Amino acid sequence: MFVGIDLGTSGLRALLIDDAQRVIAAKEASYDTTRPHAGWSEQRQSDWTDACIKVFAELRAEAPDAVAAIRGIGVSGHMHGANLLDADGTPLRPCMMWNDTRSVAQAARLDATENVRDLSGNIVFPGFTAPKVAWVADNEPDIFAKTAKVLLPKDYLNFWLTGVYASDMSDSAGTSWLDVGARDWSDELLAASGMRRDQMPDLFEGSEAIGTVSPDVATQLGLPEGVIVAAGAGDNAAAACGIGALGEGDGFVSLGTSGVLLTGRDAYAPKPASAVHTFCHAIPDRWYQMGVILAATDSLNWLSRNLQESPADLTRALGSSISGPGKMRFLPYLSGERTPHNDADIRGAFIGLDIASGHEALTQAVLEGVTFALRDNLEALKSTGADLKQVIAIGGGSQSPFWVELIATVLNLPIALPKAGEFGAALGAARLAICAADKADPVATMTRPEIDTIIQPRAELRDQYDAAYAAFRNSYSGIKALQS
Ligand code: XUL
Repeated sequence: MFVGIDLGTSGLRALLIDDAQRVIAAKEASYDTTRPHAGWSEQRQSDWTDACIKVFAELRAEAPDAVAAIRGIGVSGHMHGANLLDADGTPLRPCMMWNDTRSVAQAARLDATENVRDLSGNIVFPGFTAPKVAWVADNEPDIFAKTAKVLLPKDYLNFWLTGVYASDMSDSAGTSWLDVGARDWSDELLAASGMRRDQMPDLFEGSEAIGTVSPDVATQLGLPEGVIVAAGAGDNAAAACGIGALGEGDGFVSLGTSGVLLTGRDAYAPKPASAVHTFCHAIPDRWYQMGVILAATDSLNWLSRNLQESPADLTRALGSSISGPGKMRFLPYLSGERTPHNDADIRGAFIGLDIASGHEALTQAVLEGVTFALRDNLEALKSTGADLKQVIAIGGGSQSPFWVELIATVLNLPIALPKAGEFGAALGAARLAICAADKADPVATMTRPEIDTIIQPRAELRDQYDAAYAAFRNSYSGIKALQS
């Protein structure tokens, strides 16, 4: 038996599978994010460990024999968060999350520092770890002075489980401290934000073991002795492991709060200026690249709140298939944008509102705007040499047939929809646990899910959507000028 834990933004999910990767049970517990000031986004580390204790109690209640037979645990987590610990391993402050934008000035400063983009392979985005710690140095100097270790969110959970300070390559790649090509901490990058190598955890590949669950925590969770803990992965790499997207051209489009278009890469091919994220994969000798948009279903949820109609009702009203773009354009920059604009200040817009525009036209514009932003990501990925041939759609938005057909047509890529079942980050994390505990081959372990349907692009509508995309692409500079 193996457990994959996904430390998500809104809650923790634990998936229990057997040695043949059959699902035995899955449990979830939610926790809050606090936003004490504009742009801040924080979570308490004790909420994560409490959630972990709660889900294991529920797993034990449902499947006691299976829990007693657990041999390995893998953890996936939201990326980039900064957990600053003192010399005893106690958190000095709550975690500053991936969507915390207070460190815009520090990010710009680090991003402009010589060699930083070259060594890290990425822009220093305000969401990344290094600028957050630089913000602490500037604003909370007492805490910075006491900081003995900095851990990513899932690494904090692994530290609690094992007592070992460890991280994996995929998550560490999102700190701006890792030499992503060399898969090692960079002393030069660390020095750029006033950090030292001894403040970093030891590095592992995600599929390697970092240690075993400590006796004290094993008692709290009801686990047998000696359960192996894998180094685990950042959530996007873990999701890629969950659907078997490991190598060149294997990818997914994730329609969650944020939107991600991801592809596996066999070699390291960074291109920071494109605002594509180039990160190590969770298995040895592979990388992945992704474009990230900050408001995918978040844009639809925003519209839903304002129109007081559920996202499902709004999308259902559009029917299940597309018939050409609407006249209105929506720019989905509700929280700023990462790929391709790297612009924390930009905000969204509707262009072309008509006296007749109602809920349907607004919904269509929002779905098209998010989809055109994904096309921006595809163009950015292509500019690095990535060659996506087909992608699997995951996340809540993939429930809408209209949206999936729209994405297939705008991206000109067939979109595969998996059969109902487990194929997310928790499964990816459990698969990393199998590799760590049994020294199993990652490629053989991380197979593709069974596909239910493949949605093809609507070739006859391509020209119309290409023209609408061109108008969308040109709108950014216009609204940027108006907002400056
Ligand atoms: C990736 C990113 C998000 C978080 C959220 O760069 O910031 O996908 O990992 O889970």
